[in-house]
Amino acid sequence: MAEKILIFDFGSQYTQLIGRRLRELNVYCEIHPYNKTVALDDSVKGVVLSGSPYSVREADAPQLNLQPIKGRLPLLGVCYGAQYLAHHFGGAVQRSDSREYGRAQLSVKDADSPLLKDVATNSQVWMSHGDTITALPHNARVIASTADVDNAAFAITGEPTYGLQFHPEVYHSTEGMKILQNFVKDVCGCRCDWTPESFIENTVNALKDTLGNDKVVLGLSGGVDSSVAAMLLHHAIGANLHCIFVDNGLLRKNEFAEVLESYRDMGLNITGVDATVDFLSALVDVSDPEKKRKIIGRMFIEVFDREAYKIENVKWLAQGTIYPDVIESVSVHGPSATIKSHHNVGGLPDRMNLRVVEPLRSLFKDEVRRVGMALGMKPELLRRHPFPGPGLAVRISGEVSKEKVAILQEADAIFITGLRTANLYDRVWQAATILLPVKSVGVMGDERTYESTIVLRAVTSTDGMTADWARLPDDFLANVSNDIINKVKSVNRVLYDISSKPPATIEWE
Ligand code: XMP
Repeated sequence: MAEKILIFDFGSQYTQLIGRRLRELNVYCEIHPYNKTVALDDSVKGVVLSGSPYSVREADAPQLNLQPIKGRLPLLGVCYGAQYLAHHFGGAVQRSDSREYGRAQLSVKDADSPLLKDVATNSQVWMSHGDTITALPHNARVIASTADVDNAAFAITGEPTYGLQFHPEVYHSTEGMKILQNFVKDVCGCRCDWTPESFIENTVNALKDTLGNDKVVLGLSGGVDSSVAAMLLHHAIGANLHCIFVDNGLLRKNEFAEVLESYRDMGLNITGVDATVDFLSALVDVSDPEKKRKIIGRMFIEVFDREAYKIENVKWLAQGTIYPDVIESVSVHGPSATIKSHHNVGGLPDRMNLRVVEPLRSLFKDEVRRVGMALGMKPELLRRHPFPGPGLAVRISGEVSKEKVAILQEADAIFITGLRTANLYDRVWQAATILLPVKSVGVMGDERTYESTIVLRAVTSTDGMTADWARLPDDFLANVSNDIINKVKSVNRVLYDISSKPPATIEWE
């Protein structure tokens, strides 16, 4: 029998992290907005209430009916979740007058509490709240405190309900994983047997059932998600999976040929489509970043559609959608502005009248990689840096041309090969080379030059949402710069981007 933990999201920035931590403990969990009705069937072994930027005392604070949950299922309130329990079940919450942000030391008051089993006393925990619980809910007792927060952790006697005013899910809470493990194992009684191998077995069986003898088409991008999705489907339906890999003329140097080859080695039934001319002609005279993205997105649909049409009787479109793309986020400060439109294959299913299958829909990125490993895929393929769908077009500031793509491909190949050779590739989240529409004066031999500028960008990140510029060694940067200027015709200057995200973004466009 499948088992899962439900996480109700009140809008905290850490909610996804709770999900990832539980998955690391080999427990399947789902994140739902607090205001969504979710079936509480037998597979639900416990519930977590997340934090929130709201105060429970505010009139418009998010509300969730806990009646079917509290006292019936194991329940863990984190931060706002804990304050919610206090506020609604006989305790009190007030604005805090002492500092409750950042590090604190947790002193265990009840070492017999199942939630705190083997948790070292005085371990570091991470606090982040403006309110504090001044009176515990009915029948509750303190199980741990910090210097400033008496009611840092509480348990309700006679029922499996707990509250933590700190965040066990963040890395800074050093015993946080142990606390979460105690919750899922000892309080919820989970078997913790959700592993990449079990995921593969269940998913392949489910895909076999759903797809039967139907044909499926999938667009491969060379990236991790579409590749792992393809391998899962390949295990389930073999040659009935038809993969299409489009060369849009905006890929890295030699990427199309190399990736196509490695897909063939993996046994995939794949068609490579050279659409370089279609894409580059559609981009002539276009310099606005959003227009470029839209044109590339539209062109992709056109090319893909044309190719998919050649597969007789195809019924399904497979996509490499992953969990962060489908979690419905709780909008706390109104709908967020579109910073960049990310085009992949949006719009395809409607147009092609296909049903959609998304085998990775429930996985986080690191889990996709683990599943890929368990499927025996090459580590080089699984560790590839993210690469934007619109490719080098968003790394050429202004108008795109075949000549500019060629310059950028050469410079980029030097940078990426250099990172691999220096064993730095896996230490950065993503590395990119950008071609600026800026010329500057230089001197080569006795000649004055007036040529183009290349920017190198390398960032560290865990999810691409925030990022910092990578502190690459000076010597390494010096060598890459030298190589680019010496070997790439028409480049005489190389810059290194030292902006973090925010306020900058990873891509320049
Ligand atoms: P930004 O530039 O918004 O990028 O900081 C965050 C991550 O998203 C990638 N990215 C894209 N991926 N289509 C994609 O598939 C796009 O249009 C796109 N734009 C940015 C970017 O490479 C980084 O990993």
